[in-house]
Amino acid sequence: MSERAPGSYDSTYHAPIMVDEVLEWLEVSPGGLYLDGTLGGGGHSEALLDACGPDGVVVGLDRDPDAIAEASARLARFGERFVPVRANYSEAESVLERLGLGRVDGWLIDAGVSSHQLDDSSRGFSFREGGPLDMRMGPDGVTLGEWLDEASERDVAYALRVYGEVKGANRIARAILAARAEGKLDTTAALRDVVADAAPRDRARKIHPATLAFQGPVSYTHLTLPTIYSV
Ligand SMILES: C[S@@+](CC[C@H](N)C(=O)[O-])C[C@H]1O[C@@H](n2cnc3c(N)ncnc32)[C@H](O)[C@@H]1O
Repeated sequence: MSERAPGSYDSTYHAPIMVDEVLEWLEVSPGGLYLDGTLGGGGHSEALLDACGPDGVVVGLDRDPDAIAEASARLARFGERFVPVRANYSEAESVLERLGLGRVDGWLIDAGVSSHQLDDSSRGFSFREGGPLDMRMGPDGVTLGEWLDEASERDVAYALRVYGEVKGANRIARAILAARAEGKLDTTAALRDVVADAAPRDRARKIHPATLAFQGPVSYTHLTLPTIYSV
């Protein structure tokens, strides 16, 4: 067990947001059983464990082995009260069954990518640094590059429009697939440039056009929204 005092873990992995609101909305009480479907750096889980002590339990899921390792180190001081499992949150029910745990008193999903995943350019989530066209949450599944090789223009435009709320989705999708077919699209930096060239000019928008375009495939290929609705 770690000697660290509660809440004193020094982590640059990910800073959780709305921690007080999460505790309030979940009405966390001592002795309860809670599920954190997106463990990340373990910040929300730590707050849940503090609030449901001395004998409440938190099951933390994440698809990313980095998150499981980081949160396990951070939350070691809680011993058996913290149960980390590498799994998709869509499997929450079967994980709880397998652990022999009953109905949870509350659950949390903080969907998306962690700062750690964004900061590590080798993960392929960031267009600022450049990196491989990966964007996987962990070692399983298809990379963004593999997805693009199979996707139709309609699929790509749908991901951009519905999940990224991108304007000019059809034109951008066409440009992306053309660049990929010509062998000019292997990195996130190349994707950023293709999107920037094809995106309609929108002076009112302060963000880079690739910001939303990157959000589209992340949400679509990881089925973030449909998966949340299925939980
Ligand atoms: C925004 S971070 C969560 C941060 C966390 N709340 C904390 O306090 O550090 C999102 C995390 O969800 C994970 N994730 C995304 N989709 C997932 C899914 N379908 N199932 C399980 N984990 C997922 C990512 O790997 C990432 O670690």
